[in-house]
Amino acid sequence: MLDLAHAAPSGMNLQPWYFYVLNNLEKNRAIAMEVCERAKEQLAAKAKDAHDRGCSNFLFYDAPTVIYCCVPKGTGFTNEFDLGLAVENMMLFAQQNGFCTLPVGLAKKFGEDIIRKEIGIADEHDFFIALCVGYRASDSGDAPKPRKEEYAKWIE
Ligand SMILES: Cc1cc2nc3c(=O)[nH]c(=O)nc-3n(C[C@H](O)[C@H](O)[C@H](O)COP(=O)(O)O)c2cc1C
Repeated sequence: MLDLAHAAPSGMNLQPWYFYVLNNLEKNRAIAMEVCERAKEQLAAKAKDAHDRGCSNFLFYDAPTVIYCCVPKGTGFTNEFDLGLAVENMMLFAQQNGFCTLPVGLAKKFGEDIIRKEIGIADEHDFFIALCVGYRASDSGDAPKPRKEEYAKWIE
């Protein structure tokens, strides 16, 4: 998976990504719980939904593996886009091989400092998104969520 991420195209071939992989359910759960604790009042409905589905947290949904995806500071102007391409490569590979992934933007919104400390993210890296990797929960449903009707304009 990481090799496929690293094969993604990038602006000026800067390859502006760096991945910290934590393959430990208990440690990922502990990080998620700490972030959830901070965010729970703002996200009570989401937390309830996760709880109803049998997860002990709503942030990483008890995924055993979380890839903490970073971009190097102060380089390139397409870093986040490039990282998105790399992450999408991992998500497609995982899906084709029977795994389930979820990118979690809330990890940065509510827990950047917690994650920096617990994962030991280097000063030269900005944490951007957490990619959860695991197996699909039996009750999560396979149907894609509805998409907006209006999303493109044909000029000619
Ligand atoms: C950049 C990004 C960040 C996301 N962050 C979260 C998140 O923090 N928590 C979550 O439960 N889902 C998160 N998602 C999942 C989206 O909510 C989901 O992809 C969207 O609702 C469409 O659903 P579908 O992918 O099942 O069709 C994120 C997705 C993307 C692409």
